[in-house]
Amino acid sequence: MIAPTTPFERLTPADLPACSALALDREWPREERKWRFLMAVGEVHALRDPDGGLAGTVVLTRYRAELIAVSMVLVAARFTRQGLGKRLMRHAIDQADGATLALTATAQGLGLYQQLGFTSHGRIQSHRGRFQAEPGAAGHSRPATPADLTAILELDLAVFGADRSPVLRRLHAFAEHLRVIEVDGGLAGFAAAWRNDDHLVLGPVVAQRPELAQALLTDLALEAGEAGVRIDVDDVHTGLTEWVVARGLTPGFAPTIMTHGGRLPADRSRLYSPLMQALG
Ligand SMILES: CC(C)(COP(=O)(O)OP(=O)(O)OC[C@H]1O[C@@H](n2cnc3c(N)ncnc32)[C@H](O)[C@@H]1OP(=O)(O)O)[C@@H](O)C(=O)NCCC(=O)NCCS
Repeated sequence: MIAPTTPFERLTPADLPACSALALDREWPREERKWRFLMAVGEVHALRDPDGGLAGTVVLTRYRAELIAVSMVLVAARFTRQGLGKRLMRHAIDQADGATLALTATAQGLGLYQQLGFTSHGRIQSHRGRFQAEPGAAGHSRPATPADLTAILELDLAVFGADRSPVLRRLHAFAEHLRVIEVDGGLAGFAAAWRNDDHLVLGPVVAQRPELAQALLTDLALEAGEAGVRIDVDDVHTGLTEWVVARGLTPGFAPTIMTHGGRLPADRSRLYSPLMQALG
């Protein structure tokens, strides 16, 4: 039992092994790099188990313009259905201070979020596997350079609808590949690939048109070589989902996009894939 008076703590990098242990306890992957990145760009709030380890976590990443991405809502299996999930989420709502909260809900979390007033806005469809590129499809994008950053941030602000520049500025260091695509000399899209456990995640993918998103994904997947890739696609883009499956990837889980206290500010017609579900 965790006492209702047990205070929340802000975790530090010294707690990363405990975060991964909690994830494994709930049969989630270890994802150490992801936890480390989330801790660098956001806040990991947790309840500790007095007997050792973590009882629960919730991660908040604050974007300017009143949007907070909520992620890693986890309760240790030994404390299931004792009200900790609700306590974590009430804490997140208390921290919002008027901002909209956004998250992607697993089937287990959905009911809890609905009870707390979150509303649904579609799904993110995940895919995993080896990407088989069409012959001749590659080579339409190029690696990003530091000189592209201003244009990337401008396009992202217009598409994401909230300022995630503190996160994107770290992409060069966090991602293995960052590519841009140009049309008539102007930036028309960008995408990254970053390593998570044994595979590369392709995301974010932001582009003015679907064929530009496909070109970016093709080049990133080819750079991944033999490594398996993961591509998550916002389900407003049914055409891209079909395209990804036609290139050999298998659809996996598809959590629900939910918000509390407002709507998503994003122009989802140009936002194909999140950087990671935890961040949008
Ligand atoms: C989802 C999770 C955080 C809930 O934590 P919890 O401490 O067990 O939840 P609570 O005890 O606060 O439950 C609050 C309400 O949520 C709903 N709920 C919780 N777990 C549920 C489940 N497995 N299935 C359906 N509804 C569930 C119930 O309505 C519950 O109220 P009740 O017990 O009075 O019926 C926990 O099951 C977990 O860590 N799951 C694995 C990771 C995950 O999927 N996290 C969500 C990420 S979006």
